[in-house]
Amino acid sequence: MSAAPGRLIGLGTGPGDPELLTLKAARYLAEADVIANFAKRGNAGNARKIVAGHMRPEVIELPLYYPVTTEIDKDHGDYVSAISDFYEESAKAVEDHLLAGRTVVVLSEGDPLFYGSYMHLHVRLSHRFSTEVVPGVTAMSGCWSATGVPIVQGDDILSVLPGTLAEDILAHRLSDTDAAVIMKVGRNLPKIRRALAQVGKLERAIYVERGTMENMAITPLAAKPDDIAPYFSIVLVPGWAAKPGESVDTSSQMAEVVA
Ligand SMILES: C[S@@+](CC[C@H](N)C(=O)[O-])C[C@H]1O[C@@H](n2cnc3c(N)ncnc32)[C@H](O)[C@@H]1O
Repeated sequence: MSAAPGRLIGLGTGPGDPELLTLKAARYLAEADVIANFAKRGNAGNARKIVAGHMRPEVIELPLYYPVTTEIDKDHGDYVSAISDFYEESAKAVEDHLLAGRTVVVLSEGDPLFYGSYMHLHVRLSHRFSTEVVPGVTAMSGCWSATGVPIVQGDDILSVLPGTLAEDILAHRLSDTDAAVIMKVGRNLPKIRRALAQVGKLERAIYVERGTMENMAITPLAAKPDDIAPYFSIVLVPGWAAKPGESVDTSSQMAEVVA
């Protein structure tokens, strides 16, 4: 007789500080038969590090290693086909455990349905298996909390922009919003800096690297002397004190945090 199908849990781990894990996430980690996580080959993965203290020693681990990360342009046909095959194979590997009746927790740094790779498994499996998504503290929320600078208030509009966008699109979107969060900074930082300068918002921008992690760094972007940024970096453009035509210097607001 075949086993009753197991459960799929997409689990948000928060941005880095293990204390930002939810109580529900901790409970599901303790109950999991299988813990799957996406990672770059040769690297345990940030999400796996965040939850390490909550994993049972006997849990089955299912690392899902990306075949490519930044070596090939994301719009190149080779990248698109390699990554789509990879998500198909990953879904199949998870499905095998679900069919054997196991509860599979898929780790997702931050929140699973917010730019998270988990969603590629979710769309392939959630209509066939019992599924739950456990929300997590997003990187942007962890980062703006760490700076202590309010991001939006009142009628402010917040735009979340991937730093991978073309410079003219970034500049256009930045000009048409009160506040912004720019994700996926890394090698896009010079372009992001130029786009912010073009629309007069560079002085307001705050750069946060490895937000909420032990080696976090926060600096006004205009004061950052280089354009070197790790994968885990974000740019915040607070809107709360901005009035049309006025340039707001956030550096005094965050002076204590940086000191
Ligand atoms: C694929 S997205 C994942 C977002 C995540 N699911 C969330 O809820 O925030 C990865 C991007 O999130 C940002 N990010 C994630 N964790 C971060 C952290 N601890 N500090 C700064 N940026 C972070 C970076 O911009 C990174 O390139």
